[in-house]
Amino acid sequence: MNLPNLDKARKRSNEKVQIVNYNLDDLYKNIGQNLTYFIKTYGCQMNEHDTENIEGLLESIGFTKNNEMEKADVIILNTCSIRENAHNKAFGMLGRLKHLKEERPNIIVGLCGCMAQEEVVVNEILKKYQHVNFIFGTHNLYDLPRLIYENTKNKTNVCVYSIEGNVVENIPVKRSNNFKAYVNIIYGCDKFCTYCIVPYTRGKQRSRKIEDILDEVNELKKNGCVEVTLLGQNVNAYGKDLNLDYDLADLLESVAKTNIPRIRFITSHPWDFTDRMVEVIAKYPNIMKYVHLPIQSGSNRILKLMGRRYTKEDYKKLFNKLKKIPDIAITTDIIVGFPGESNDDFLDTLDIVNYCKYDGAYTFIYSPRIGTPAAKLYEKDTLDEKEKEQRLYQLNELINNYSLASNQRMLNKVYKILVEGESNKEGMMFGYTESNKLVNFKGNRDLIGKIIDVKIIDAKSFSLDGELVE
Ligand code: 5AD
Ligand code: SF4
Repeated sequence: MNLPNLDKARKRSNEKVQIVNYNLDDLYKNIGQNLTYFIKTYGCQMNEHDTENIEGLLESIGFTKNNEMEKADVIILNTCSIRENAHNKAFGMLGRLKHLKEERPNIIVGLCGCMAQEEVVVNEILKKYQHVNFIFGTHNLYDLPRLIYENTKNKTNVCVYSIEGNVVENIPVKRSNNFKAYVNIIYGCDKFCTYCIVPYTRGKQRSRKIEDILDEVNELKKNGCVEVTLLGQNVNAYGKDLNLDYDLADLLESVAKTNIPRIRFITSHPWDFTDRMVEVIAKYPNIMKYVHLPIQSGSNRILKLMGRRYTKEDYKKLFNKLKKIPDIAITTDIIVGFPGESNDDFLDTLDIVNYCKYDGAYTFIYSPRIGTPAAKLYEKDTLDEKEKEQRLYQLNELINNYSLASNQRMLNKVYKILVEGESNKEGMMFGYTESNKLVNFKGNRDLIGKIIDVKIIDAKSFSLDGELVE
């Protein structure tokens, strides 16, 4: 057993990260034959992409995918720790699986993702959820074949490393579609914003090698992929650990030169955003004019307590530089009810929203994460939960107005969208503009994976309606 350890997870070693190649042991090659798997994924794009690797790993050892959890032989929960409600959802599912396992004792239940990295979570599972067969962490996805092979029927096998390991290349991947793809560029995060669990669950900042990233993009392009999203907890820190004098601006430029039609990147930390990055985004037409730029709070006092390393003035400066790029869309993340947030602090947040007039925002009520510095502040916090909900409501109203206004400005104009699939409404398809706006339009399935022109005919807060331009 290797249990997660919070103290170890907090440390950052100076050891050089090794890049190693994944290798499948012959022992495990056919263990999934005639068996099926089901994976439930919670959380961010990083987790979605990890699930693509987990599916790749399982299929490489003979498993096939089952869309019905109740009938699958192996069920894996790929979990998220970012807020309490993500925890609750996963624990709720573990409860359901307990009943399923009583009916079908031979199923194998595994848990991975960020919750697996949390000491408190694993201890609770060991105590109360003994039907879980194995737990593996974010640093050793590749261990899955071994864990299934060694599956002990009556004891939870925990294999989680708290000190991040190497960067492992060439893990099998089953992409969820062939026209757009996630490409990891950097793992982990060293920012340690005081509310955030990610630096503990995802470990030290580790960049992938430039050639490995470019090879992956070129291979995707060769196979017909038209959009790549470069992924990282903080993509703007790309390259800092490589000591090569090569950063995200250089990487974006190199990826742009592959001529893949669309390039996106998430998520950006304002602190690492250089002028050259802004220039490169502006310069290359295949770099999408969309930046997700979390502000978290508009109050300098709260930003300081959050450990964000910028002031609202710094943020505005960067925002204005980005805004000079024609047609750029900027979205953000905001937390309300951070411990000690006063009404004035909250008004500062409304102020910055009024200033930036975001195209969209993800908003959250602060959720204490065990082991993070802000959780200690939360113990002394007196802010009423009702008040936090009220603030969230007020903030969302304001944000929705600005999203609507920015969508309305697109009315009657023609935009390029990448068609992704059928929308919920019959006969309708959906796709995203270069600025990442969702457009529904009447069309057929042949258009999936194609970049087409649509004219915007209606605008709502969260989506647009369009019509095909022949
Ligand atoms: N509570 C609430 N929201 C959080 N986020 C991260 N940690 C917390 C937390 N403890 C939000 C931040 C981040 C987004 C991914 O999730 O806004 O940008
Ligand atoms: Fe968390 Fe993002 Fe801050 Fe890293 S930069 S600690 S992932 S909020």
